[in-house]
Amino acid sequence: MTGLPDLLRFQNGEIVQRAADWPRRRQELLEAIVPLEYGGMPPAPRGTRAETLHACPTRHLAGGRFITCRVMAEYERPFTFLLYLLVPPGAGPFPVILNGDACWGYVTDEIAAAVLRRGNILAQFNRVEIAADMREAGRDAGLYPYHPAATYGALAAWAWGYHRCVDALAHFDCVDMARIAVVGHSRGGKASLLAGATDERIALTAANDSGCAGAGCYRHQGPGSETLADIVGRFPYWFGPQLAAYIGREAELPFDQHFLKAAVAPRRLLTTEALGDLWANPSGTWLTHEAARQVYRFLGVEERIGIWYREGGHGHGQADWEALLDFMDWQFRGHPPVLRYDLNPFPAA
Ligand code: GCU
Repeated sequence: MTGLPDLLRFQNGEIVQRAADWPRRRQELLEAIVPLEYGGMPPAPRGTRAETLHACPTRHLAGGRFITCRVMAEYERPFTFLLYLLVPPGAGPFPVILNGDACWGYVTDEIAAAVLRRGNILAQFNRVEIAADMREAGRDAGLYPYHPAATYGALAAWAWGYHRCVDALAHFDCVDMARIAVVGHSRGGKASLLAGATDERIALTAANDSGCAGAGCYRHQGPGSETLADIVGRFPYWFGPQLAAYIGREAELPFDQHFLKAAVAPRRLLTTEALGDLWANPSGTWLTHEAARQVYRFLGVEERIGIWYREGGHGHGQADWEALLDFMDWQFRGHPPVLRYDLNPFPAA
């Protein structure tokens, strides 16, 4: 249909016949995409500790508690970074939305209060503590010196950050470990999608305007959309070293971005998109969504994958967060959906 590599056929050509075969096919998908596109994942630490550094009430944020926590990944030398929790009143356990984009500061008090009012914890970390988002920073800082022979790029390092936060969340009684959602915007959404695809503890994966190397599509470039040449040219340090070889040969890539989406299945997946964000390839994103949805349908959980488009341009604002919160209430609490998460705005595509 779309010319995208088949998700429901094993590499040896056999068709995936039964839901019980899906974990094996999922593993193949991850092996096709993660090393080549993202340079592999950082090795997991021996363990992860969480040290609470401070806890205090907030006056303005829906009566929540604010907790600062140091996450310590145990390698020969521990690697540490900070995680901030906003916890609603009450004992919980509460679902969590984990966002890695603290470097951007776009989560307004209104957004934070909306997350808490619906009975969710808002957890945030700053992914650039793990790998700087600067081409000139090189590999001498952050997590890279811990694994000098590794080839992972910044997106994989940021996804690793989500995973270590999930480790750390397990230390908190107020956290419901079965209802953890991750989210990120744009390059942060590329990272949250990779994090959710590669960690089955994450119950709901969300990515906003993640585009090229996220929810987008290399084989269908909508008008004005970012290409492999564009992204690798400007941000080579986000990726593994082999990806650049496919510039101009995208049809030969052994994956497209529907592999990453499908690797989330049968767990929940939502991408939120903007029709005016042409750089992020909204029409190509629909195609990878449709392809991944076939897997959800095959597994009998089609309602667990959603996509939501709004008018307007690039950004992660209140409306995008509300779409995620509604989706979470539906998926985690059984509330009837308020929005439609299956509408194709490109009927002719
Ligand atoms: C650039 C980049 C995109 C990225 C975006 C962002 O525009 O080309 O791939 O998603 O920055 O992170 O805002």
